[in-house]
Amino acid sequence: MKNIAIIIGGKSVEHEVSIITGMQVFDNIDKDIYEPKIIYIQKDGKWLVGNSLEDINNYKTKDFKDTYEVLPGFRDSKLILYPHPEIQRGFFGKKYPTQEVDMVFLALHGTNVEDGALQGLFQMNDVPFTFGSVVSSAVGMDKVIMKKVFESNKLPIVDYIWFYRSSFEEEKDKIIKEAENIGYPLIVKPANLGSSVGISKANNLDELLFAVEVAMSYDRKIIVEKCIENVREINCAVMGYENKLETSLCEEPVGWKEFLTYEDKYMGNNKASTESKRRIPANIDEEIERKIIKYAKESFKSIDCCGNARIDFLLDGNNIFVNEINTIPGSIAFYLWEGKEISFKELINKIIELAEIQYKQRKNNIISYDIDLLNRIGDQGKVK
Ligand SMILES: Nc1ncnc2c1ncn2[C@@H]1O[C@H](COP(=O)(O)OP(=O)(O)O)[C@@H](O)[C@H]1O
Ligand SMILES: [Mg+2]
Repeated sequence: MKNIAIIIGGKSVEHEVSIITGMQVFDNIDKDIYEPKIIYIQKDGKWLVGNSLEDINNYKTKDFKDTYEVLPGFRDSKLILYPHPEIQRGFFGKKYPTQEVDMVFLALHGTNVEDGALQGLFQMNDVPFTFGSVVSSAVGMDKVIMKKVFESNKLPIVDYIWFYRSSFEEEKDKIIKEAENIGYPLIVKPANLGSSVGISKANNLDELLFAVEVAMSYDRKIIVEKCIENVREINCAVMGYENKLETSLCEEPVGWKEFLTYEDKYMGNNKASTESKRRIPANIDEEIERKIIKYAKESFKSIDCCGNARIDFLLDGNNIFVNEINTIPGSIAFYLWEGKEISFKELINKIIELAEIQYKQRKNNIISYDIDLLNRIGDQGKVK
């Protein structure tokens, strides 16, 4: 059976959300085909393994008995989890096993873990991993680069400007003028976060300056964009790789106030409130739905995603804007596929199969180009 490690946590503001996603994946993964285990990357960056990581209650009390710290190593396209040398030394009698992993299932959200950094570790070491490559993860996370790619693919996006934190200190007046040219109300976002962290709305100059201060405390790259009033949000997931893409039902999150906050997204206290917070399928015209499906697929393809991603749209009357793409969506957006008769278990199977296809495609590339360069070079480093 294939050993799959579901990796959760990480040095990210979306650490807790990732634990929820990871537990859902662990509970729903097909255990007849796969042998899953959890790797928990703590906020301090330590990697833990062990059975008590399989129960979400242990994260509430931070009671991780029967776990141990491992260091990642790589060999023959496998991830090898070595017990940390220090714990080996400290324990007499008890020996911690080294574990091998065939594929990693990334159930992580946010900077460092959804942005290509963690993907790079596996891509470089030839270990198959779920969801997009380094490039697609990086582009999907950086809202500025993402907008640039969407723009060049003729996808509709709202008016925006962006700047570095250091530029704001140097040319504040110019930046403020450019932002005000878009026209209030504005919305200010750190370029690289998620879950609405650090995002605020500004109706005037004072609020704009404050919103920029807030965003700059989270990121060195800031976006100011037109805030659509009475906006409707529509989300749609896409599953596939390259040209073979299918879309989920569309959802409309409802019942929030100014904009969807972290609390709105995750702190629905009971099932009833969670259900009342999204309308699936969204109540939209056929023509709008048709365009959303088209834009969702184009967005997915434009940044070279793999597996399953959720594309979020803003609706201003009949005008549609692509807001963002989540390359590892919260809960893997499983709830959007149920209406298409695809269970959570089937969705996970599909994401793993697509990860294998992506991995094989990468393996097909030539990685050495042998022209015997070194033997053709003389002592002075010049070609003979
Ligand atoms: N241009 C906009 N106009 C109106 N509301 C917006 C706009 N951009 C974002 N929002 C609101 O802010 C929320 C978070 O913004 P988003 O760009 O999705 O960032 P995040 O990556 O944190 O989810 C959105 O879900 C939406 O409610
Ligand atoms: Mg969002």
